[in-house]
Amino acid sequence: MLQPFPILFLPLLLSALVLVLPLERAVLADADTQAAAACSSLQRADIERRLSTKTPYRVIANYDETPPQYAGCHPTRIWSVIRHGSRNPSKKVILRAQQRLVELQQRLLSQPHPNLCPAEMKQLREWSWGHLNAAEDEKLLVAEGEDELIELAERMQLRFPSLLPDMYDPAWYYMKYTDTQRTLKSAQSFATGLFGRHRIHAVRYPRPVYRDPVLRFYKLCDRWRTDVDKNPETFINARRFTEEPEMQSAVEHVRGSTQLPDLGPEDVELMYMVCAFETSWQRRRQRESVWCSFFDVDALRALEFAKDLEYYWNDGYGYELTHRIACPAIADMFSAIDPVSQAMPRANVTFYFTHSGTLLKLLAHLGLAKDKEALTHKHFGSERLWRTSEIDAFATNLAFLRYECEQEPPRVLVLHQERAVRLPGCPQDEDLCPLATIRRLYADSVERCDFEALCQVDDTK
Ligand SMILES: *[C@@H]1O[C@H](CO)[C@@H](O)[C@H](O)[C@H]1NC(C)=O
Repeated sequence: MLQPFPILFLPLLLSALVLVLPLERAVLADADTQAAAACSSLQRADIERRLSTKTPYRVIANYDETPPQYAGCHPTRIWSVIRHGSRNPSKKVILRAQQRLVELQQRLLSQPHPNLCPAEMKQLREWSWGHLNAAEDEKLLVAEGEDELIELAERMQLRFPSLLPDMYDPAWYYMKYTDTQRTLKSAQSFATGLFGRHRIHAVRYPRPVYRDPVLRFYKLCDRWRTDVDKNPETFINARRFTEEPEMQSAVEHVRGSTQLPDLGPEDVELMYMVCAFETSWQRRRQRESVWCSFFDVDALRALEFAKDLEYYWNDGYGYELTHRIACPAIADMFSAIDPVSQAMPRANVTFYFTHSGTLLKLLAHLGLAKDKEALTHKHFGSERLWRTSEIDAFATNLAFLRYECEQEPPRVLVLHQERAVRLPGCPQDEDLCPLATIRRLYADSVERCDFEALCQVDDTK
């Protein structure tokens, strides 16, 4: 016989229900998502070190701030060239992301059995580059880019406190950027790291030039533009790599993980670019860019290699002309760390804020990151030194420091990515190289730096 519940028991009954309900829901939900895919197993570290020239500086920075000690020697001058920090994509990439990627996003979201876990589905639903205006926002420095330059300046100052005092003096510091927002903001961020936010208004910069003969020499070289930059042959190796098994299986992998069998290599490259930018911008976010989840490590390595090929032939060792034209910058380095006459006094500290194209050509001029053989589409499996993720990340930097030594002629410390590097031709068993040796090594390139003649377009061809 059923007896009505005494009113007193009602709260008890309700709380029992509340206890049981969530359990019930969980069980139901489990049954529901049994078919849902697992989240991508890629780790942040698998992704962020393989992003070629879109690699964030934080993953390659040298966090050891101890001042280097060389007995009897102290630094008196520095000349340094620094790439701008992380930025927005180019107009072309923004537009392709807003068109083609939105199209892919919609197709992915309407799949009955998407190959993404619920968290990734949520990310994909929320993904949009609608906030980017292709014309106005292209290539602007982002917040992460500012942090990269601020922190780089702080570490350099801790390493070289006497050379980089935190009081700004225009006679001591010479800082210049190209006529672009990203190098201007990079210079200001670097100055913030050195002098503090409240003192950067005092910093005086020379008038910026878009095609600066020292900071961006290649923009003035017509022959480089026609023979290399605009020459389809330059990109032959990168294109041929598309046919190689490694790239083919990268494309296959992404076709499988997206369940979109019609994707082409250009779609996969676009996804890689968007994955790269979003990863670079965000150091704190818990989850990576959703566009990274369609890759595996092998696919990322193939995409990275394709980029290495592209930059090797366009801005690196591929053609002699490309690195020879860096000579005006090398000549400027000598006049900054080894001024020959008092007639042209130079500040003890020179910092230039510039671009990837300048850094890569300089590295190649110096013989750094040089492989024995030219890099071709057949070299994916070989060890290589030319790795743009390591040598040309955002905020990539190169520095020459002059050291005065007791009872010895001056010597030079060369830093790339804040680490000592030994130039070919310099002693390989110590960091400091005699200034006279470096002078001799590059005498030819500096004395025969007839930029006009080198860059003259040969019309007879
Ligand atoms: C600045 O450079 C000059 C010229 O090379 C050098 O004599 C001087 O010692 C440097 N100043 C300091 C404080 O290192």
